[in-house]
Amino acid sequence: MPADPHSLYEFFYTSQLDPQTSPTVVGQILSKARPHNAQAGVSGLLVFDGLRFFQHLEGPRIALEPLMGRIVEDMRHEDVRILHEGLLDQRRYHRFDMGYAQTDDFDALAALMTLSGLPAVEQFLHMRSSFDIQA
Ligand SMILES: Cc1cc2nc3c(=O)[nH]c(=O)nc-3n(C[C@H](O)[C@H](O)[C@H](O)COP(=O)(O)O)c2cc1C
Repeated sequence: MPADPHSLYEFFYTSQLDPQTSPTVVGQILSKARPHNAQAGVSGLLVFDGLRFFQHLEGPRIALEPLMGRIVEDMRHEDVRILHEGLLDQRRYHRFDMGYAQTDDFDALAALMTLSGLPAVEQFLHMRSSFDIQA
């Protein structure tokens, strides 16, 4: 049976701010991303430590794959590494668009970089309670 393009899917990736780009660009990214994601049924969380991004995205595969393609091509960051992607039974984030948290827990993020696949996702979800999430 062919995969249903509307089934729920998730991406979890890390990337690095482009060295020529100011960290203040995050505000611009979020102000465009939030209405787009809400319309596309995409939810998730973006975490930024001033240098590295971690983003967890979930939504219909048909919306998420092209979005991930645009994100990979975005010149405002580089070294995009997809740590996990796959089908999802149910949403992990219960508000649409994109939560945002800044962190200075560099050690925890460095440890997260050493993981991949579902263990990376699980560790990120575990860290979620320590983030100061700005809805
Ligand atoms: C770290 C990072 C995270 C992003 N997250 C999203 C997102 O969640 N949703 C979104 O629509 N765009 C996001 N973008 C922006 C996209 O890369 C792209 O600029 C946007 O989808 C608009 O694409 P368009 O100008 O081709 O329409 C993100 C960009 C970066 C650098």
